[in-house]
Amino acid sequence: MAGTDQKRLQTQGKPAIFLDRDGTIIEDVGTLREAGQIALFPDAIAALKKLQERFLLFVITNQGTAVQAGMQRKEVDAINRALDRILADEGIAIVEWYTCYHMRSEQCSCIKPNPFFIERAAGEYGIEPAASLIMGDHPHDVLTGKELGVQGLYLLTGHGLKHLSEVPYDIPVFHTLGEGAEWLLQHSAPGTSLSEMTAAGAAAIRNGELVAFPTETVYGLGTDALNADAAARIFIAKQRPLEDPLIVHIAEKGDIIPLVTHLPEKASLLIDRFWPGPLTLVLPKSPAVPDIITAGGATVAVRMPAHPVALALIRQAQRPVAAPSANLFGKTSPTTAAHVTEQLEGRYAVLIDGGASRVGVESTVLSLVEEIPVILRPGGVTREELEAVIGEVAVKSWSERPAVGERMASPGMLPAHYAPATPMVLVDDAATYADDPEAAIILRGPTTRHFAGSIFILGHGGTMAGAAAMLYQTLRLVDRMDFRLIVAERFPDSGIGAAVNDRLERAAAGTQD
Ligand code: TXA
Ligand code: MG
Repeated sequence: MAGTDQKRLQTQGKPAIFLDRDGTIIEDVGTLREAGQIALFPDAIAALKKLQERFLLFVITNQGTAVQAGMQRKEVDAINRALDRILADEGIAIVEWYTCYHMRSEQCSCIKPNPFFIERAAGEYGIEPAASLIMGDHPHDVLTGKELGVQGLYLLTGHGLKHLSEVPYDIPVFHTLGEGAEWLLQHSAPGTSLSEMTAAGAAAIRNGELVAFPTETVYGLGTDALNADAAARIFIAKQRPLEDPLIVHIAEKGDIIPLVTHLPEKASLLIDRFWPGPLTLVLPKSPAVPDIITAGGATVAVRMPAHPVALALIRQAQRPVAAPSANLFGKTSPTTAAHVTEQLEGRYAVLIDGGASRVGVESTVLSLVEEIPVILRPGGVTREELEAVIGEVAVKSWSERPAVGERMASPGMLPAHYAPATPMVLVDDAATYADDPEAAIILRGPTTRHFAGSIFILGHGGTMAGAAAMLYQTLRLVDRMDFRLIVAERFPDSGIGAAVNDRLERAAAGTQD
């Protein structure tokens, strides 16, 4: 693009961000044939303005499919130029537009995740890869330059939900470009980097204070599980009844040993297969676990989370960490740091923002105390996956469980949970509410049907896991918007759909009290 020499002058010493184009800055509409089809994401301009205060902006885009679809390279370039002008009019300067025109089958060296263009930027502009970042909505985007030390940030826009399961855990995830930009700016001042926040969190836990931290399921509010006074603070901060026991989080598989009386074989098999990950095991507790953690009961719930920040926090604290979800009791669980502040601001010593929780629903709680293991709460690991490892598994639906206040096998399985403030119903087919103009309709996937109300689609990526990842984010969004009624569509009851349905049912039940 024009003015390269001038741009080269501005590059001195600034780190770079490499951005994908389609699905990251603008909607991914397949092949873009003319400038009129360019649709910027709503928060893109504000995000890019913020980012360019600290970083040089580059775009790396793969347009192989556009060329394959018959477009000339110069036509592809014209789209880039048109977008460059739109951004320039807003005061945003893209240093360089790097385009790969090939299909993967051509085995070119410039297609992502090859670091071709990052090396070129290093050569042409003196960019330091190890100080640079790359953002995009495809695993190939965020893995580009990894071997050079480029840090990826993954976005759930575009194809993001569809490929989420392929993204390694050391790459933080954000719902939008704006969310990712905000996070980067908040973590670039001295003392605020993720590792510094984690160290501060670990010190707070050792001190018996509360720390809100990311896990792959939802954010947790944690403290030293072996300190009963510290654990009491969790119940106060969340306004949680003392009869609802806490999950103890560990960072090494072997750390379960001192917490339980013995480890049955089924537990060992499940630990080998699913830890770290969204599976909580309920086992007979050892005397080392304070009664407040288990609500006075004889069993303890233990899990090893998969989020690298959670693991680092627990390791550095050198303690097992007791942590419920970081929300007020009975309310929707948080899947971002912003969700945590909304409900609990001021009630913890440290909040570690590690991006969006990618599973999006809580861990599966499995009791191994009975003859046949029982799922007390469906979650991130599915019944089918469990049965493949240990054979028959029973399920207790929350509605079969005793009501609030009664002594129960699983004291925390209270129906009025995950509740938005707006009245909510759960239906098999949302078409029944198609004529209601004041309803928010939460759908499993895209629809061609007309709805008089507003529709919110959970399953844009077409996978149930993607829909689960968006569940609480969407419930919170809709709840803020003053609808008269929330109508949610039931999912197929298989796989993670069982967990989504459980949360939707309980959200709906909670608002009927
Ligand atoms: O994904 C998760 O599990 C998240 C993250 C932060 O790890 N944690 C979470 O915690 O969801 P919480 O407290 O919101 O839910 C824990 C559930 C409660 O329903 C509780 O009753 C159940 O686990 N639970 C805990 N200890 C138990 C026990 N000893 N026996 C039966 N159920 C137990
Ligand atoms: Mg993309």
